[in-house]
Amino acid sequence: MKKLFGVIGNPIGHSLSPHMHNDLFSLYGIDAHYHPFLVEKGRLAEAVTGLKAIGAAGFNVTIPYKTEIIPLLDWIDPLAKEIGAVNTVVNRDGLLAGYNTDGPGFLKSLEEGFPQLDNPAMLVIGAGGAARAIYFTLEKTGPLVLDICNRSLSKAESLVGESQLSVPSRALSAEEAAERINEYDIVIQTTSVGMHPETGESPIGLHNLNKKVHAADIIYNPAETEFLKQARKRGAKTLNGLGMFVHQGALAFELWTGIKPDADRMRETVLKQLG
Ligand code: ATR
Repeated sequence: MKKLFGVIGNPIGHSLSPHMHNDLFSLYGIDAHYHPFLVEKGRLAEAVTGLKAIGAAGFNVTIPYKTEIIPLLDWIDPLAKEIGAVNTVVNRDGLLAGYNTDGPGFLKSLEEGFPQLDNPAMLVIGAGGAARAIYFTLEKTGPLVLDICNRSLSKAESLVGESQLSVPSRALSAEEAAERINEYDIVIQTTSVGMHPETGESPIGLHNLNKKVHAADIIYNPAETEFLKQARKRGAKTLNGLGMFVHQGALAFELWTGIKPDADRMRETVLKQLG
């Protein structure tokens, strides 16, 4: 019987995940379909019960349900628990297991994009859900330092306070971070500032940036945010969020099927959709 996969969220209309996964199912000859499901506010529990009842084989979870879904699942992977968010669910014989592939997907993209960097000093800009996934994943790679800066400093402070990191980690204001920017090998922009259809300035000033700093953004539409543009103009190597999106999907696909999919092909599928 055809297996059902999908993504639940709100809004969901512009998700590129269905294209990416349905293409992989046909590539690997898997009899399955991946569908976007719009879940109305307040109806998440019903949606999850329904997906379980009809035997959906797995699904992704996106904004705004990545945290709210946790108590509705039967088992949570330790990293997802630490992050406090689930983006991938696997149905194992009727029990729903939750994972987070956003952080590990970002890490894969970083390793591909900036392969020469060993034990780097890193700065994460932002303290929201995406920042948490990246922060707790990167910590395990043993960076020299892993600082976090946020418009609201208190949110960065509580993230640093809550975590028991094995590496040095400070909370900085955007102004402090702009001053100290050249202390880092990699600066990672995780806020939604500049995401299509909005435009926006870089969330931190890059006037001091020197070309040794590597700049990564989690946004891939547009391909270059103002943050990345300014960094590139100052000679920095840059990386957008396309690799993170592809690899979070690749890791989900592997959890569902056991197959490590062709990430280059996935990238092509997404680029085709973006036009
Ligand atoms: P996500 O799950 O996408 O990370 P979120 O949890 O709502 O979304 O977090 C949004 C992040 O973007 C926060 O760090 C937020 O900063 P505040 O905590 O100060 O709100 C940051 N952010 C959003 N708009 C911003 C802006 N215009 N300038 C700077 N930071 C912004």
